[in-house]
Amino acid sequence: MNTNYKIIKEFGSQEITSSILERISNIAQSRSMELHPFLKNGLFSSHRDLEKILDHYEDGKPFYIYTGRGPSSSSLHLGHLVPFIMTKYLQDLFQVPVIIQITDDEKYYNAEQVKGQPKSKLDHFQEIAKENIKDIISIGFDSTRTYIFQNSWNIDLLYPEIIKANKIINLNQLQNVFGSTESDSIGKISFPVIQIVPSFAQTFQSIFPSIPDFNLKDVRCLIPCAIDQDPYFRLTRDIAPRLGYHKPSLIHSGFFASLFGDSKMSSSAKDPNSVIFINETPKQVQKKINKYAFSGGRDTIEEHRLYGGNPEVDICCQYLKYLLDDQPRYETILSGYRSGYLLSGELKKITIDIINQILKEYQELRRSVDEETYQEYTTRKILKFN
Ligand code: TYM
Repeated sequence: MNTNYKIIKEFGSQEITSSILERISNIAQSRSMELHPFLKNGLFSSHRDLEKILDHYEDGKPFYIYTGRGPSSSSLHLGHLVPFIMTKYLQDLFQVPVIIQITDDEKYYNAEQVKGQPKSKLDHFQEIAKENIKDIISIGFDSTRTYIFQNSWNIDLLYPEIIKANKIINLNQLQNVFGSTESDSIGKISFPVIQIVPSFAQTFQSIFPSIPDFNLKDVRCLIPCAIDQDPYFRLTRDIAPRLGYHKPSLIHSGFFASLFGDSKMSSSAKDPNSVIFINETPKQVQKKINKYAFSGGRDTIEEHRLYGGNPEVDICCQYLKYLLDDQPRYETILSGYRSGYLLSGELKKITIDIINQILKEYQELRRSVDEETYQEYTTRKILKFN
């Protein structure tokens, strides 16, 4: 079952229906844009209260987008690009502020403490946070509408709302949602509150402009993320009314799979060969896909020609489904593979070329992100609302 459908069933999120897609499409048309391929191909197919954001927007009322990253490796991987690409698309579409939280604290609390290892030091996570921020900037956010912050240096911004949330969240709730145990550090146990409060506009009162006749409390929030982050925001939605705030809306993506095909792509995977980092060279990408991408092809060319490949388990077929924005070409590739006409090596070559093209564009931008650009995005300023 598609992971998004699992969450729709298990946690009661909603499906992104064709009528929602049509509403987004109409807004896109008015900006000479198109519906994003990730919405067309169902990579994002689950949401919570997305209609409320669309209503709000159509009524000319303000909202902002909030998302984040936990710096566990010095470079993002292909899976991480998914919510950030969607966030940039939504910023272009709605012309709204984007707030990006970098949880260096979270990754430090979660790292195993081994004496002498860099991962035992907060400095390590603070440093890779900076590299991650530069990666995120390279996705092309509008600097007048975007603020990126890392928690360890910016807690003053969040603290007033943390105090209010701390007062009403009890240990039981944290244990129920995150499975915290008594032996967890109190940093780890209480971390969720830090990820929760950026969902409330009140947190950003010093960087959101005052809007005539509009109360900050009524500025809504939309959160794009993959489904693994939903627990934080279920808790957020539970407590929001008690604080007098709107519940944030969410738009969830499914997971971009690891090259081995056994789980989601993850930077903390034991084997780095299962992951494509976005700073990898065309040669590295080629090697990883050729050697490690799980194939649905047959053992010999003769068998493959005779029986055909299995796209259901083939990782390249999965990647192409989400990355190839050309439905007829995708269908032709799929049927060619299924019939045995297209060989695994040929399918891998198509996938390598597409991924390398995406990474090339991103890496070009990344090279232009210098210290000044970094400051532009990470210095507090009044954000443009429209
Ligand atoms: P992190 O760093 O684990 O992931 C960053 C974002 O990428 C998504 N993601 C994926 N999406 C598709 N396929 C994958 N294989 C994949 N792996 C990760 C995550 O869902 C996330 O959206 N605690 C968070 C940081 C955070 C945050 C937020 C995320 C703070 N505030 C608000 C989303 C929204 C974390 O460690 O993300």
